[in-house]
Amino acid sequence: MAKTETSAASGLDRILTLELARVSERAAVSAARLRGHGDEMAADQAAVDAMRRELNRLPIDGTVVIGEGERDEAPMLYIGEKVGNKNGPKVDIALDPLEGTTICAKSLPNSLAVIAMAPEGDLLNAPDSYMDKIAIGPGYPKGTIDLDASIEENLSNVAKEKGVPINEITACVLDRPRHARLIEDIRATGAAIRLIGDGDVAGVIHTTDPDETGIDFYCGIGGAPEGVLAAAALRCIGGQMQSRLVITRDEQVERAYRMGIDDIKKKYTLEEMAGPDVLFAATGVTDGNMLQGVRFSRDKITTHTVVMRSSTGTVRYIKALHTQLDKFHLD
Ligand code: FBP
Repeated sequence: MAKTETSAASGLDRILTLELARVSERAAVSAARLRGHGDEMAADQAAVDAMRRELNRLPIDGTVVIGEGERDEAPMLYIGEKVGNKNGPKVDIALDPLEGTTICAKSLPNSLAVIAMAPEGDLLNAPDSYMDKIAIGPGYPKGTIDLDASIEENLSNVAKEKGVPINEITACVLDRPRHARLIEDIRATGAAIRLIGDGDVAGVIHTTDPDETGIDFYCGIGGAPEGVLAAAALRCIGGQMQSRLVITRDEQVERAYRMGIDDIKKKYTLEEMAGPDVLFAATGVTDGNMLQGVRFSRDKITTHTVVMRSSTGTVRYIKALHTQLDKFHLD
């Protein structure tokens, strides 16, 4: 492929940003056809099929580093799968064709089709384990949050730097029994909590636009793959994030070692999770705080996507009207 313009950092073609939007749009449309049907697996499979098909059309020599699981567990888009038509740069791909399968099946807010791309070696190869995460959006001085500080310290810093009392700060947390103590501790500070049923990629991204989403701060334990995807987005929009793998089983330890992680207790910075030249795209499957879900009508399908590029810091919102419906019926 002839290169139009490349970033100084590594040479990822900027045209790929738009190509990524096409990939997430296709996955979102396929999942949205099964939105609200109560069948998580069917919606996920539809998204996976569509994302894989579209990804294999891209002019890249890609490797999935964050995907649907290990090769023996996931038949498609597994970790290590080669994707793209090989006629382009060597890139690593992190993806979640349907982030929030349960929320899609129930047609609740904020399920997304998500994909990120970076030059080979620039995305953390996280195992399919849990990850402890903390994040805020842009505009705060470096060091405002720290995964090892108390929740009270973190929230007071955020409130101080935002210039509001702590009871005007909202933290987003996954609604899980494992967070009972965390929730109690947050409430004790006076801060509000937005409890989400699922979808912490959206939860982290929402911290980047508190005026729109009402969320200032994200914390808690969610999926490690979702952590890397969220980090890719934050690397583009700006913000701070830290994480640590939560590895409890022996096979996860082995898996982490195989992926090149020697220190499973390491605290990762945003920069260690996603390199300086990341592309990111997310398309809304269901309606959400930042993206509308897919809309179907007689003569068109409408999608809402955000695409970002860290080397330039550009964040684009794309409302796409797809009128060649026969193409989408193949999905
Ligand atoms: P899925 O899309 O795989 O269902 O993940 C949804 C999700 O809520 C993620 O956003 C989050 O990181 C993870 O699940 C949390 O895992 P668990 O449901 O096991 O607490």
